[in-house]
Amino acid sequence: MDKKIPWIVKYRPRRVEEVVDQDDAKRLLREWLGQWARGRVPERRAALLYGPPGVGKTSLVEALAREFDFEVLELNASDYRRKTDIERTVGVAAGKRPLFKKGLLILMDEVDGIDPRFDEGGVEALLEVVKSTSNPLVFTANDPWREQIRPLRELCLMVEFKELSEGAIVSLLQRICEGERLQCDKEALKLIAERSMGDARAAVNDLQAVAEGYGRVTVDVVRALIRGRDKSLNIWRTLNSIVYAKQAWMAKKAVTQSEVDYETLITWLSDNIPKKYTEPEDLYRAYEALSRATLQIARSKTSGEWSLLPYVFDLIGPGITFARTSGSISKEKYGFPEKVRLAIQLKTTREIREKLAEQLARNTLTSKSTVKNEIIPYLTIIFRNTSNPIIAARIAIGYRLDKETIKFLAGPNTENVLKTIEKIRKAKPEEVKEEKPETKKQSKTTKEERTAKNNKAKSTGSLDEFLKRS
Ligand SMILES: Nc1ncnc2c1ncn2[C@@H]1O[C@H](COP(=O)(O)OP(=O)(O)OP(=O)(O)O)[C@@H](O)[C@H]1O
Ligand SMILES: [Mg+2]
Repeated sequence: MDKKIPWIVKYRPRRVEEVVDQDDAKRLLREWLGQWARGRVPERRAALLYGPPGVGKTSLVEALAREFDFEVLELNASDYRRKTDIERTVGVAAGKRPLFKKGLLILMDEVDGIDPRFDEGGVEALLEVVKSTSNPLVFTANDPWREQIRPLRELCLMVEFKELSEGAIVSLLQRICEGERLQCDKEALKLIAERSMGDARAAVNDLQAVAEGYGRVTVDVVRALIRGRDKSLNIWRTLNSIVYAKQAWMAKKAVTQSEVDYETLITWLSDNIPKKYTEPEDLYRAYEALSRATLQIARSKTSGEWSLLPYVFDLIGPGITFARTSGSISKEKYGFPEKVRLAIQLKTTREIREKLAEQLARNTLTSKSTVKNEIIPYLTIIFRNTSNPIIAARIAIGYRLDKETIKFLAGPNTENVLKTIEKIRKAKPEEVKEEKPETKKQSKTTKEERTAKNNKAKSTGSLDEFLKRS
């Protein structure tokens, strides 16, 4: 087994037939590039490939280019944001002749990353290139419905890529197993495919992680090593099955079928066992089993030798079950381990901040990072100001902030702000109705209007006013 090359690189499809699924996309693109190859300029000179990550967008373009003997010039949209960059790179390439091959294809990845405010005229410059290019131009995007690339959408051949089916991913994984002479259980491959949620890149990476960590790909190992979608889905059931198991195999099965990986499971067990076991002797044996399991994992990680993994399952399954010999099981409920609780809390705070930044950036026509660095800190001060919750309440109403976001901003002052919002709503219902979100209107505004609004937002935008008043 070759450990050095990532398999997503080693097994990147070279021929179109090796790209699994995506038949519609293959047909559309082949027809389109075929026209270019025959020296005809198609009606739409650019194609926009869109769909979730890891489903073959870039791979298919590369494979097709090879099939038609086209050179590929790959550019990343996030590196080419400004008008001048675009003219200098794509603009120039659009008029070039290929050096060695029959044709030249320009591939611009992640075009949805273009941001209209920083790329003054960036999209416009791209449109010009699209209209006049003498080489095929391919854009890729995960989210093609973003407002800023709307004009591009209208000029491009739109090619949809779908999430890959489980079957397609399994066949891809099987091919890799053969290539690596790896012993792979079909069920294990199915499990990897299922957990990848249609993303082949994720599935191939997972397969490599399991194979290199363990040498074989079996259901047990996949369950233990690959994290599921919802990490706490079955945890309560797993804990219960371990604590109440009547037979050793039941406890072991609970461990290998758990939705969480074994390290997380150890964290849950070590925080929850004292809630369930009442006898100190029992507790002592339980912790001994857990510490041996932890030690074994640490050893395996450093040595790369995973053959003792089933022994770890024994320790955290039956090892816990049979640690209890005399005492009874307490009725106390299981709780989130402190470590897990903190991680979840942090994650949601991050998500709320991210969501808020996105909304305010849209509403005030500033960038997300400006919102995060300059606006949210002020909002926090305003929302936590106990003596004057009215401003916070009005901002919350005006921007239709949900309870979660208000709580994030107001912290201990949340109740105060929520009450004030209620008061305002009751006092002047017509005023509340007047405040429409700006997003809806935005899609209909012209470019001039947007620029005007943009300038306005910079100097006298509504959020600015709020900030000044405070
Ligand atoms: N349809 C597919 N057939 C075969 N392999 C695939 C397919 N889709 C993805 N892969 C595997 O995943 C890797 C990444 O695929 P690719 O770069 O084409 O994804 P993408 O759709 O362009 O993703 P992104 O949106 O993140 O750029 C490839 O190297 C290949 O190993
Ligand atoms: Mg790609």
